[in-house]
Amino acid sequence: MIRKAVFPVAGWGTRFLPATKASPKEMLPLVDKPLIQYTVEEAVASGIELAIFVTGRGKRAIEDHFDRSWELEYVLEKQNKREQLNEVRSISNLIEVVYIRQKMPLGLGHAVLRAKSVVDNEPFAVILGDDIIDSEKPCIKQLIEIYEKFEAPVIALKRVPDEEVSRYGIIKGRELDERLFLIEDMVEKPSLEEAPSNYAIVGRYILTPDVLEELEKVQPGKGGEIQLTDALRNLANKRKFYGVVFEGEHFDCGNKLGYLMATVHFALKRKDLKLDFLQYLRRVAL
Ligand code: G1P
Repeated sequence: MIRKAVFPVAGWGTRFLPATKASPKEMLPLVDKPLIQYTVEEAVASGIELAIFVTGRGKRAIEDHFDRSWELEYVLEKQNKREQLNEVRSISNLIEVVYIRQKMPLGLGHAVLRAKSVVDNEPFAVILGDDIIDSEKPCIKQLIEIYEKFEAPVIALKRVPDEEVSRYGIIKGRELDERLFLIEDMVEKPSLEEAPSNYAIVGRYILTPDVLEELEKVQPGKGGEIQLTDALRNLANKRKFYGVVFEGEHFDCGNKLGYLMATVHFALKRKDLKLDFLQYLRRVAL
């Protein structure tokens, strides 16, 4: 059973300055829902019961978002805005949450290791909020199903064009069947020449607690940071480790173009916006 998910949310969000100067990048909206809520909903729909946010300075808005907002509820109730009231309430009931501070931004691996005491020797999920995935079956659920079959760590993979390999962790793997790889090696953000394949790690992982021991040993890697990829690489040398090319549409909301594409994608899924927005897009595209 995978019951816990770690959400590393302590990053500075420098690529979205000045929007992220005083508010967390995780609270940037796609249409009207913050990025972090999309990923938390994915976790809930996959059966996750506890969200472990590894947070840092300037991230209080995330805590408030998943908490009750008595004043707002009072106002909405007075104004008889039932729909909004239910929505606002339901966010605070989505999932149980725990917050852990990452006191220094020393890398993704360091952030995941902060969650050790709450993970408490259970297999767990890691979900990165920059990666928004729209799919029929939630991506993390697709990974959990593979985990349940093999009882081994599983990561989400996506085939990316040459010009994008240097943005991701890239794997070397043996294709077992159409969407399943046995991972042999991986490199964090390689140059195209160094990249062992075009299969990129997307921000969804099911990990076993032994990864935390690897994280304790790993030295700073790319960018001087403690990299999760380096710990996973060491783990892959010791045990079977799988990668799944997930089904669904992925948006890299860690960069502006990906974020804009996700905004268009989710706006066009909205009944109240679709027609007018499409008309507008057609007009500007000419
Ligand atoms: C992180 C990981 C990288 C992975 C990526 C997916 O990088 O280190 O291996 O491919 O997430 O989004 P970041 O984008 O946080 O720099």
